[in-house]
Amino acid sequence: MRALVVFDSYFGNTEDVAIAIGNALKETMRVEVKRVSKLDPKRVKGIDFMIIGSPTRGFQATKKIKEFLKGIPKDEYAHMKVIAFDTRIATEDTDSKVLNRMVKVFGYAAKPMGEIMKKRGAKLLLDPMGFYVEDTEGPLKAGEEERAAAWAKEAIQKELT
Ligand SMILES: Cc1cc2nc3c(=O)[nH]c(=O)nc-3n(C[C@H](O)[C@H](O)[C@H](O)COP(=O)(O)O)c2cc1C
Repeated sequence: MRALVVFDSYFGNTEDVAIAIGNALKETMRVEVKRVSKLDPKRVKGIDFMIIGSPTRGFQATKKIKEFLKGIPKDEYAHMKVIAFDTRIATEDTDSKVLNRMVKVFGYAAKPMGEIMKKRGAKLLLDPMGFYVEDTEGPLKAGEEERAAAWAKEAIQKELT
């Protein structure tokens, strides 16, 4: 089983979640953790399990993540199991009512990331997940790396049963 954790990150929080997931998966499989800018989607080959993470920016994933997901050939997706996550700010940590109303309408990055991959033929093992930062530049809220590790392990267990 080969796993690939792909992330984008401006301030390091999504990277920290990606690394926590990579470390959790290493116990049971071969895993690489890579920044999206270091990967050519056309050269993603032989990956059984892909975990993809983006910071939520303007209610969506970064351009690099979206382009990467759209650049992976459909015949690769056909045999890939995937999960998607984002990092985000909790609505209770935002003062702006307007912003919170917009969040209700436009949401976060992870769900559309999952939808792109599913539409292209991948098997989405779990509902997309958000991990919380305390403020724009972080840090991650306490316990989020552990929650991410457990979430990724849940995907493997689901796949093995
Ligand atoms: C330009 C910009 C737009 C953002 N938009 C959102 C948003 O729509 N929803 C949200 O929850 N957080 C938003 N954030 C907060 C980011 O989600 C947060 O900076 C990110 O999780 C940090 O991850 P990183 O350290 O990997 O970059 C935004 C931050 C910036 C700088």
